[in-house]
Amino acid sequence: MKDSKFLRALNLQPNTTPPVWFMRQAGRYLPEYQKIRKNYSNFLDMCKQPKTCAELALQPIDRFGLDASILFSDILTIPDALDLGLAFHEGEGPKFSNPISHPQDIKKLPSFDVNNLNYVFKAVEETRSQLPQDIPLIGFCGSPWTLAAYSIEGGGSKDFHKTKTFLREHPDELQDFLQILSNACYEYLRQQVLSGVSALQIFDSWADLLSDAELEKFSLKYTRMLCKLLKEDPLTASIPIILFEKSPNNKVENIIFDEITCISLYWKEDIESISKNFKDLFAIQGNLDPKVLLESDELILEETQRICTIMKDYPGFIFNLGHGITPNIDPEKVQVMIDAIRQ
Ligand code: CP3
Repeated sequence: MKDSKFLRALNLQPNTTPPVWFMRQAGRYLPEYQKIRKNYSNFLDMCKQPKTCAELALQPIDRFGLDASILFSDILTIPDALDLGLAFHEGEGPKFSNPISHPQDIKKLPSFDVNNLNYVFKAVEETRSQLPQDIPLIGFCGSPWTLAAYSIEGGGSKDFHKTKTFLREHPDELQDFLQILSNACYEYLRQQVLSGVSALQIFDSWADLLSDAELEKFSLKYTRMLCKLLKEDPLTASIPIILFEKSPNNKVENIIFDEITCISLYWKEDIESISKNFKDLFAIQGNLDPKVLLESDELILEETQRICTIMKDYPGFIFNLGHGITPNIDPEKVQVMIDAIRQ
C-alpha cells in the first residue's frame, strides 16, 4: 500500500505516471450508480447501508482502475448527527428540517456523539475489506465553515443569504458553532482512520462565500484547528491531509499551512504558478475543469496533456478534476481523460 502511486505522491515521491482519482467519482453520472440509487427515495438512507456504500465506492474503481477510492458518504452526516434532521429527496439538494436559525439553537445543540455515525465507520470497514490491497481509501469531512453554512441555510442555496446575515449579526455565536464543528470533525476523521482510511480530504466547498479576512476568521482558523488536533494525536499524526478550497478569494499561497500535505486546486486556479511556489513542500491535486469533459475527445486530450506537461517534474502531483464531476458527464469521456493521463 505504501508503494501505491497515490500515497507516493502524497509523500512527494516521484511516479512514472501521475495517480488519478476524482471528486464525486461515485455518483449520478454512472449508470451502475443510478441502478442502485433508484431503490432509495432518501439518499441519506442509502449512506446508512455499509454494504451499499462499499459497492458504490468500488464502482468507479472497477470501471476505470483509479488509483484511490473515496468513502461513499456525504459531508452533511455531522450536522445530521447534531439532530438538524437531514433529508435528500428526489430531485432536491440537501434539506434540514431543524436548521440553526437563532443563536439559541446553537446553545441547545446536543453534545456530538461520534457513535451516532457508526454507519459511516462500518462503511469504511466494509469498503476497505472489498478494495484491492494496494488501493488506498480516502476519508473525508466538510470544513467546519462549509458545515456551518449548510446548517444555518437549512440546505443548499444560490447566495447563502441567511448564512451571511447570521455571520454579520452573530459572529461570536457563529464562532462557538464552528468550534463545536471542529471538534466533531476531529472525532469523526479520527474514527475513519481507526476504521481503515489512509488519507483524509477536507472539503471547504463554500469558501467562496467569504472575503479574504472572513475566510481567515471563519474558515481557515477552524480548519487549521482541526488539522492540528489530528497531527497532535498519535493515532492520526501520520495520515496525509488534503485540503480543497472552492474558488477562494485568497491566494492559495496564503491559505496553505504546515499540517496540510496536499492542496486540491479548484479549476480556476493557475496550477503552473502555484506549482512553482510549492515544489518539494506540498503535493498538488488537480485541476481539470469538469466542464471540459462535456467537450470533444480532442479537447479533453489537449487539456489533460496541458496539465500533465506542466506537472511532469513535480514530485507529488495527483491528477484530479478542479471540482466534483457532474451528473451530465458521459463516463466514456472520463475514460478518454484517464487514457490521456496514463499515456
Ligand atoms: O465519490 C464520491 O466522492 C462520493 C462521496 C461524496 C458524496 N458527496 C456523495 C454524494 C462526497 C465526497 C461528497 C462531498 C460533498 N457533499 C460535498 C463536497 C464536494 C463538493 O462538491 O464541493 C458537498 C458540498 C456535499 C453536499 C451535497 N451532497 C450536496 C449539495 C448534494 C446534492 C447536490 C448534488 O450534487 O447531488 C449532495 C448529494 C450527494 N452526495 C450525491 C452523492 C453521490 C447525489 C445524491 C443523489 O444521488 O441524489
